[in-house]
Amino acid sequence: MEIQSVLLIGAGLMGRGIAESLLRSGLRIFWYDVRQEDLKKALMGIEKSFQKQIAKGRLSEEEARTCLANATLLDSLESKAEVQLVIEAVSEKLSIKESLFQTLNQICDEKTIFVSNTSSLSINTLGRMSKRPEQFMGMHFFNPVPVMPLVELIRGLKTSEETVETIKGLVAKLGKTPISAPDFPGFTVNRILVPMLNEAYFCVMEGALPEDVDQGMKLGCNFPMGPLELSDFIGLDTILSVLEIMHQGFGDSKYRPCPLLKNMVEAGMYGRKSGQGFYDYRS
Ligand code: CAA
Repeated sequence: MEIQSVLLIGAGLMGRGIAESLLRSGLRIFWYDVRQEDLKKALMGIEKSFQKQIAKGRLSEEEARTCLANATLLDSLESKAEVQLVIEAVSEKLSIKESLFQTLNQICDEKTIFVSNTSSLSINTLGRMSKRPEQFMGMHFFNPVPVMPLVELIRGLKTSEETVETIKGLVAKLGKTPISAPDFPGFTVNRILVPMLNEAYFCVMEGALPEDVDQGMKLGCNFPMGPLELSDFIGLDTILSVLEIMHQGFGDSKYRPCPLLKNMVEAGMYGRKSGQGFYDYRS
């Protein structure tokens, strides 16, 4: 089956990036978020990004209009959704996802595939909650989605071969590259990346300057962004939740979140999105 229409749930950082990639690849999207103002803001962000691409000569006015016309913002999830795929990119809370799947099961055809952009929750658990484990899998994008070429594909024990092949086809249509990752907390990339970011927080807690840590990893390891700049970009709340899931899931103290990270999240310092993290973005 070739995916042509998608119901996308969530208009946060990842939802917005996923929407932009889907629209750029000519897919029709129906897009919903409980926070309607976030949804409108996210669409405006995509319009701005298209304007930049027009200015760089990579997209024509006409193409941008066609892509944008393929987006329908939904103000509720009540009416029947005639889509082949649902992508969920909502908060990393099992209870939120479970109640979303209940709603989706009432409006979607039983053949519709559901995928989750979760960065760490169990695909087998989510598959069971979705009540369609054969048509369920993880499809984990990376930030900024329009730029990053990777998608991690995580199958549950019950995911059908047909579902995997359909999603691989979608990844190809988006011009991205898939890797298969096992269904364990953090999958593959975050399992390696997030403990490294956590170690950078310990360095700062022990007295290193964020600028020095970032400069060190950029100049010493050729990272495009230092670990603290990257953390502010991803969102410190998101990283804390991934670490907590890995810590709980593996029961290994090496994944314990740095106390400085916990304090910063407690203080509402989430990084770029809240204006303050390891750096200040308020001016
Ligand atoms: N949306 C769309 N396009 C963007 C963008 C965004 N948010 N940010 C940058 N770009 C585009 C720019 O327009 C530019 O495009 P062109 O080269 O075609 O003109 C290109 O990306 C490069 O941007 P810049 O020149 O402004 O800056 P840069 O060279 O420093 O690149 C970057 C920016 C691509 C973000 C780069 O710094 C980078 O690769 N950083 C690391 C990102 C990373 O590690 N992401 C993974 C995060 S982990 C994750 O997402 C998983 C999880 O679950 C937590």
